[in-house]
Amino acid sequence: MKKDLLTLNDLTRDDLEKIFEFSTKLKQERGKVSYTPLSGKSIGLIFAKSSTRTRVSFEVGVNELGGTALYLDQGKMQVGRGETIADTANVLSRYLHGIVIRTFSQAGIEELARVASIPVINALTDDYHPCQIVADLLTIKEYSGKVDSSIRVAFYGDGKSNIANSLILAAKLTGIELVICSPESVGMNQNVAGNAPNVIWEKEPIKAAEGVDYFYTDVWVSMGFEEERAERMKIFQPYQVNSKLFEYAKKDAKFLHCLPAHRGEEVSADVMDSPRSIVFDEAENRLHVQKAIMSMLF
Ligand code: CP
Ligand code: NVA
Repeated sequence: MKKDLLTLNDLTRDDLEKIFEFSTKLKQERGKVSYTPLSGKSIGLIFAKSSTRTRVSFEVGVNELGGTALYLDQGKMQVGRGETIADTANVLSRYLHGIVIRTFSQAGIEELARVASIPVINALTDDYHPCQIVADLLTIKEYSGKVDSSIRVAFYGDGKSNIANSLILAAKLTGIELVICSPESVGMNQNVAGNAPNVIWEKEPIKAAEGVDYFYTDVWVSMGFEEERAERMKIFQPYQVNSKLFEYAKKDAKFLHCLPAHRGEEVSADVMDSPRSIVFDEAENRLHVQKAIMSMLF
């Protein structure tokens, strides 16, 4: 594997298979077998944005692997008062054995990773959320037995969000068929999709639902975009994932959401709380996948 995990472009298909295998083993052995590759190691968890799943799953993951996790509020670090990212990277490399970071700028974490001598894991930026999507792919593998071109995923909502971008990279990595369903004024990031034949943009919600195995959605207002809330509520309204869409999908289609969810906005309450919803399996898999990734990188 590469030194850092900043986007899914850092993983090969072979890396992904190794993560699946390792995560599954860690999942099965959790609480039964002690595995402590991070013993004696300290991992910095830098957060500039809110978090429930990511913070807790990384902290618990580091603890379970025998390491020590340090939660660092980016707003309270000197980087917020003018210290450069490069100086921060150099200093932290002298203390820590790995960095997990959730922040705004993808370019910022790329700079951090470039200068740091220790591995850096992206725990969400405005542009990408790779750990989330690896957990989603493991969840798909658990339910469908495979992650390949026979699987169709339709993402509804903000086609340019960190989740949509990361799903596009996942489609390029695995061959899954991905439909990004978003308004014409939003579309998807064509520079991320390139000319991948298995990534399609579709503005018509019903059309996008045809033959779908997994519906996926995310909040309409991502962290950092709160000022656009009123406008976003309006433009994404027709893109809610609700039970009507399931009539056009495969018979046993499932529902994925990275969470947090807003019932009545991007997903109807009946879908979110239905047996089709596998969002808590998905959330749980964050822990197992990140333990595997940290064992491999740190
Ligand atoms: N899905 C996810 O990253 O959740 P948090 O924002 O709660 O970490
Ligand atoms: N797109 C969302 C994902 C939250 C896990 C956000 O960035 O807020």
